[in-house]
Amino acid sequence: MATIRDVSKLANVSVATVSRVINQSGYVNEVTEKAVRQAMETLSYVPSDMARSLAGKKSATIALIVPDILNPFFPELARAVEDAAHQLGYTVILCNSDHDPEKERNYFGMLKNKRIDGIIVASYTIHPQQLLELQRQSIAAVVIDNHFPSHPILALQSKNREGAVMAVRHLLDRGCTTIAHISGPLEILPSRERLLGYELVMREHGMFAPSLIAEGDFHVEGGYRAMQELLKLHPDIDGVFAGNDLMAIGALKALYIAGKAVPQDVKLIGFDGIALATVVPELSTIAQPIAEMGKLATHYLMRQIRNEPVECKTHELDVRLLVRQSTTD
Ligand code: RIB
Repeated sequence: MATIRDVSKLANVSVATVSRVINQSGYVNEVTEKAVRQAMETLSYVPSDMARSLAGKKSATIALIVPDILNPFFPELARAVEDAAHQLGYTVILCNSDHDPEKERNYFGMLKNKRIDGIIVASYTIHPQQLLELQRQSIAAVVIDNHFPSHPILALQSKNREGAVMAVRHLLDRGCTTIAHISGPLEILPSRERLLGYELVMREHGMFAPSLIAEGDFHVEGGYRAMQELLKLHPDIDGVFAGNDLMAIGALKALYIAGKAVPQDVKLIGFDGIALATVVPELSTIAQPIAEMGKLATHYLMRQIRNEPVECKTHELDVRLLVRQSTTD
């Protein structure tokens, strides 16, 4: 079976040149590329992933690390990343870190051994030095849903605070006067940013009260428990902003059990815009540009892999208010 070295000898070029032709990475003039492709055809050479990796240090493989594969936000993100990567001939390795730093470190070690070309990381436990170390080892890295402004790390996130402001103002526009917030886990940056947006508007209207805030876990159960706690303290709640759609669904269950009709008694809005938010009543929500985020993250990662110029900064993406049944009576 022909090897990459056989192709390089027949085409009278270096192994690295053959690899550049295989991976379409770096410059190869037309005559040389034609000679290499002719040699590959003559020898019926099929590049192996290892051949790609050893010769050109490109494995045509990237990884996506997410913290919670059971939260529909991340599979929707993974879908967008895989679509974009596949179009460019790249394979995606999906890793679920469970918000566990140790598990994340193990993934980084495994991925380095697989000589992957880049990593898209949606993580709240990662340290910027880990990403800078990857880059020192020529592994491109892009962060999603988090950012490290004092480091040269490219990051993408939604305008979380602005989205929270939109959500609370929408509830006010709908006539709500006692508005609660179910936050995500506060060790997570987007949760803190959304809480800030809620607090900003509530203070603007002289309505802020810490007892109107309960911390959830970004899951249905956490939203359910937080809503129960809030109703015990404030049975007069008439508006709820949940930090993500799963917790909004949990809150819906608690409100139903408490005999509160949505939206007639309590108006409810979530955050993310996942497909599951079209339950009954359909949830009003602040939709994140999940597909665009995944596509852009892959685009920037590929630019880094191809050593093309890319500014390492935080890109904040717009969010959209989707008004549906849960705030409209
Ligand atoms: O629903 C999961 C949440 O985790 C999303 O809001 C996403 O932004 C991440 O913070």
